[in-house]
Amino acid sequence: SSIQRGYHERVVDHYNNPRNVGAFDKNDEDVGTGLVGAPACGDVMKLQIKVDEKTGQVTDACFKTFGCGSAIASSSLASEWIKGKKMEDAMTIKNSDIAKYLSLPPVKLHCSMLAEDAVKAAIKDYEAKRAKRNGKPKVQQ
Ligand code: FES
Ligand code: FES
Repeated sequence: SSIQRGYHERVVDHYNNPRNVGAFDKNDEDVGTGLVGAPACGDVMKLQIKVDEKTGQVTDACFKTFGCGSAIASSSLASEWIKGKKMEDAMTIKNSDIAKYLSLPPVKLHCSMLAEDAVKAAIKDYEAKRAKRNGKPKVQQ
């Protein structure tokens, strides 16, 4: 198909077989939701995490992305990378790491930026909900 042409095989793999597509109930206590958009192209990414409150570990992640192949691949990869990580480690995932792993060309860097922003937004959302319930945030922002 036409998506194959010029795209790195890892992009094509994550585009054709995206991991963790789906949604959690955003009202659940253990869920954080990040919804971000790219002004450059109008694409939208929703990434959600489930967190073990005791350990601060991301136990599950899912996403829905309305966007290009690189954005879908970036969110799929990011959702894989953050699963099992502590929130503070998930916070350190850089769009440049995603772009490098997927060999994204410079014009597609903002697609991986969406994934970094979505991860951070999901963690912030979870922390805001948790802070509302019981005070002090676990991750400083
Ligand atoms: Fe075409 Fe993002 S600009 S999908
Ligand atoms: Fe805009 Fe990929 S997210 S072109």
